[in-house]
Amino acid sequence: MIRRVLIASFLAIFTAGLAVGQEAQVVAIKAGRLIDVENGRILTNQVILIKGEIIEAVGADLAIPEGANVIDLSDATVVPGFIDTHVHLVGDTEGNYYETIFRKSFVDAAVTAHINARKTLDAGFTTVRDVGDVGFVSVALKNAINDGKIPGPRMVTATCYIGSTGSHGDLVGFSPWLDTNMPPEMSCVADGVDEVRAKVRYLIKYGADVIKFGASAGVLSEEASVGAPQYSQEEMNAIVEEATLHGVKVCAHAHGTEAIKMAIRAGVASIEHGSMLDDEAIAMMKERGTYLSADIYNDDYIVAEYLKLGYPQKIIDKEKLVGRVQRESFRKAVKAGVKISYGTDAGVYPHGWNAKQFAKMVEWGMTPMQAIQAATFSGADLLGWQDKVGAIKPGAYADIVAVRKDPLSDVSVFEKPDFVMKGGKVYKR
Ligand code: ARG
Repeated sequence: MIRRVLIASFLAIFTAGLAVGQEAQVVAIKAGRLIDVENGRILTNQVILIKGEIIEAVGADLAIPEGANVIDLSDATVVPGFIDTHVHLVGDTEGNYYETIFRKSFVDAAVTAHINARKTLDAGFTTVRDVGDVGFVSVALKNAINDGKIPGPRMVTATCYIGSTGSHGDLVGFSPWLDTNMPPEMSCVADGVDEVRAKVRYLIKYGADVIKFGASAGVLSEEASVGAPQYSQEEMNAIVEEATLHGVKVCAHAHGTEAIKMAIRAGVASIEHGSMLDDEAIAMMKERGTYLSADIYNDDYIVAEYLKLGYPQKIIDKEKLVGRVQRESFRKAVKAGVKISYGTDAGVYPHGWNAKQFAKMVEWGMTPMQAIQAATFSGADLLGWQDKVGAIKPGAYADIVAVRKDPLSDVSVFEKPDFVMKGGKVYKR
């Protein structure tokens, strides 16, 4: 039935196009297996008809119009382009800890950000939510990608991370004589209800699509705790209230249990990291539909590489405190049915390795289908982009990934996608 409607709507659009004398430049993908993420099913021998950037029809018995450019993926499994809801395209893991802090500026990060964008796209991640940059570089990057000047994923950006003085969002552990911050106006350190409200307005004014704030301490900064709250309930409430006035969603960096609960209470759309979830936090997330965007691959990379990069031992120790606990929390959240998106913190580990988290998500409690849904359908829902991305359906962007091997028996095959298309354009084949 659905199929027939799809065919009918395609024919209507197609003939309408011809009627006004437009040239119908159609791409037809023959998909051997297509994952219908909305229903969690596998469809076989499907045809995807694409016109320009948009998918026009999907179905088993669609006629391929004459003159269409046919892409034969009949020996492959085809999925929607992936969505990573936690990346930092501005910045990377390369280089020594102190050197990066003291000898580099956001200009260095700005010059190289396009490389990270390309790596992410080639990895099959056609949409990202960028949750922390410097100097509004992510806005410039997003605009350049949208203008077609640079290849990269579609971006939703938070611009910079709003944090309190001495928090994970402020650089701590250095002499007070060393000011490593941005000029005050561009710094995202804000204290008190009035300042956080003003900061939200300021970021939205200059291009933030989503707001990110630090509810708790973190790992890769030098505070003593990983999880202590770093804003009061009033400040968190004010951030969410203000963003909501602008129709903007909020996400919160939160490792610690109390901070997680405070952020959920404030009304955030997603908890980032979510390392120390207890039963009450899980129940609150379920009740309110709060997403968990947990970077559960990250620990492997940090433990293996960060001492070599000159990171202080206390940071490594904090990682060891949180790594396993976070994965156990993830497993509990999966079991309880918390909404989960696929957020990796790429930038903390190398850009383009985003798909490495698939195997971790399966190891820690998801079925391969659930992991795929997290990286497509759920990510789109969290972004509020359900109509545009995250599913292969009429009206959505033609963002498509394909792999020859079977991802449902081994999700790690996504680490090397055989085919990547974004907006009808093939980037990798
Ligand atoms: N940006 C995060 C932080 O510094 C990274 C946490 C990485 N560790 C982890 N187990 N997920 O807090």
